[in-house]
Amino acid sequence: MAAKAARRPPASKPVLVLNGPNLNMLGKRQPEIYGRETLADVEKACRAEADRLGLDVEFAQSNHEGVLVDLIQAAREKNAGIVINAGAYTHTSVALLDALNAAELPAIEVHLSNIYKRESFRHRSYISPAAVGVIAGLGTQGYLLALQALARLLAR
Ligand code: DQA
Repeated sequence: MAAKAARRPPASKPVLVLNGPNLNMLGKRQPEIYGRETLADVEKACRAEADRLGLDVEFAQSNHEGVLVDLIQAAREKNAGIVINAGAYTHTSVALLDALNAAELPAIEVHLSNIYKRESFRHRSYISPAAVGVIAGLGTQGYLLALQALARLLAR
């Protein structure tokens, strides 16, 4: 029988999956836009995907811009990369852009909805210039695709 392929050891530092305001309301909040899965469901799916990819993951959510800045600052030392859905702060926050630039980590920006199909104020992302890539409109699958992309970037 062929030997089972060795699982890659986890990247030395965990990846941070960071969620901004109102994402704690997933499942209840405008399900026609954001779907019926809860943030706990997203966390579970991210942990399973990260495990499959040989990544460790930290999962966080805050409704407060300063807390998100603190988590990104801490990530500079603690984390190997960042998956970020900054929620509405995407469209307003120079502070998050500055924090992501200062972190000097590969970051993937995720949105559940296709922000380009929605109101014009959602078409502008302040944080995209600090992201390696952006995934929008694919629902919770976007988080898993972002983890896949980070795994490839970190393996380089
Ligand atoms: C969102 C899109 C944002 O415009 C909105 O403010 C959110 C969620 C998304 O995942 O589609 O809170 O980031």
